[in-house]
Amino acid sequence: MFEQLVGKLPVGICIVNEAYQVIFLNHFFLDRMPSQPAQDYISTPVTTLFPEQAKFLKRRIKSVFVLQHPSFSYWQQRPHIFPFKSSRPITGEETQMFQNMEIVPISSPEHGKLACIFLQDVTAQASYYLAQQELAAALKKEHEEQLALIKKLDSAQSQLIQAEKMASTGQLAAGIAHEINNPIGFVTANLDTLREYGEHLIGLCDALHNRILAHQEAPPIPVEQLLDDYHYDLLKDDMPPLIDESREGLDRVRDIVENLKKFALEDTGGWQSINLNDTLDQMIQLISVQYKTPVFKVTSHPDVINLYCEPGSLKQAVMNIALNAAQAIEGKGFVKIELRQSAVSTSIKVIDNGSGIENQHVKKIFDPFFTTKPEGLGQGLGLSVAYTAIEKHQGRITVSSNLGKGTVFEVILPLIEPVPET
Ligand SMILES: Nc1ncnc2c1ncn2[C@@H]1O[C@H](COP(=O)(O)OP(=O)(O)OP(=O)(O)O)[C@@H](O)[C@H]1O
Ligand SMILES: [Mg+2]
Repeated sequence: MFEQLVGKLPVGICIVNEAYQVIFLNHFFLDRMPSQPAQDYISTPVTTLFPEQAKFLKRRIKSVFVLQHPSFSYWQQRPHIFPFKSSRPITGEETQMFQNMEIVPISSPEHGKLACIFLQDVTAQASYYLAQQELAAALKKEHEEQLALIKKLDSAQSQLIQAEKMASTGQLAAGIAHEINNPIGFVTANLDTLREYGEHLIGLCDALHNRILAHQEAPPIPVEQLLDDYHYDLLKDDMPPLIDESREGLDRVRDIVENLKKFALEDTGGWQSINLNDTLDQMIQLISVQYKTPVFKVTSHPDVINLYCEPGSLKQAVMNIALNAAQAIEGKGFVKIELRQSAVSTSIKVIDNGSGIENQHVKKIFDPFFTTKPEGLGQGLGLSVAYTAIEKHQGRITVSSNLGKGTVFEVILPLIEPVPET
């Protein structure tokens, strides 16, 4: 019964003597050997039966005889010691058998010292393990590809932000150029008039001079007539306001350029503390040059708010929101900016009473390239750029809109402490 049991075990058993000759093979082995009568294998050295692994088997068996200690070989080191096949449990497909082998020392009165080779078929576990490894490698590759893609997207996004910045700065610059043109136009016209007035004045002075010289010889020309000939009254009335108006025009040009410089150019990059009120005042000065009908107003609690932020991107974000508000107003209207600061956060609300946003559009407005503006007037990037900038400040942006009545955007920025310089 015992022999029957050993014969049927799902483990290969091969017993060899010190000359490596086979003493016993169970069915597991016999069923997988080339079909010869079983007794042909008995007394044949195992190294002859499996010549390809002869060296390895010899070494292992010998060590067992010498040390009288078991020896183990794991499938990952040496997967296929014996050239047997195994069928996969699910697919039934035949593959080379993955094996664990253990050689243990035994002895019998009849044969003396023996070595018993146990062979375990671990094809199922090994193929599962290998498949898992393949999967893990594929996942790792996919993960790496995704990381590379994220990096690419990141750089594409910064390019986009840069492009948008250029576009809105360009738009702003175009508006400002137009506005500078106006005062320059009337200052030029005033100067032309003043030049003519100057000629009249010189003429008048010359005539008066001549009149004084001729005083003794001829009857005098009446002074009133002279003054009249040279339109002296007009010169007297018109010259001072012309000069004042020109002066004011030049002041306007200077202010615009000053604001533009402060808002757009003096940006050293990086995080720093700014006076939010001054920054938004400059922004409004710039926007109102271009959008004249809305009334712009900033309110602030407390009166002065300092904010540690990245001014470049934050200004861009608030400007994009405020520009949208100004663009949503046709005719009369207002754009109010309400600033609030608490111990934990700063809130910037941009409120307009313009067109409002259709309900179905509200969830799309932060998507890049979503625009309801006619071609050429909007790229649909303003809010997506604002969103990214606000995220960078760990803040959030909310919107509530009433079609036909107006819109409120609120940016909430958590307090971020300046990093102390080391
Ligand atoms: N205050 C607002 N009132 C009404 N609609 C708004 C307002 N703000 C945003 N929108 C809507 O959201 C859309 C997307 O705004 P976004 O600033 O991203 O792009 P855009 O203004 O169309 O183009 P760009 O800003 O690139 O010039 C706008 O086209 C507009 O329909
Ligand atoms: Mg916009």
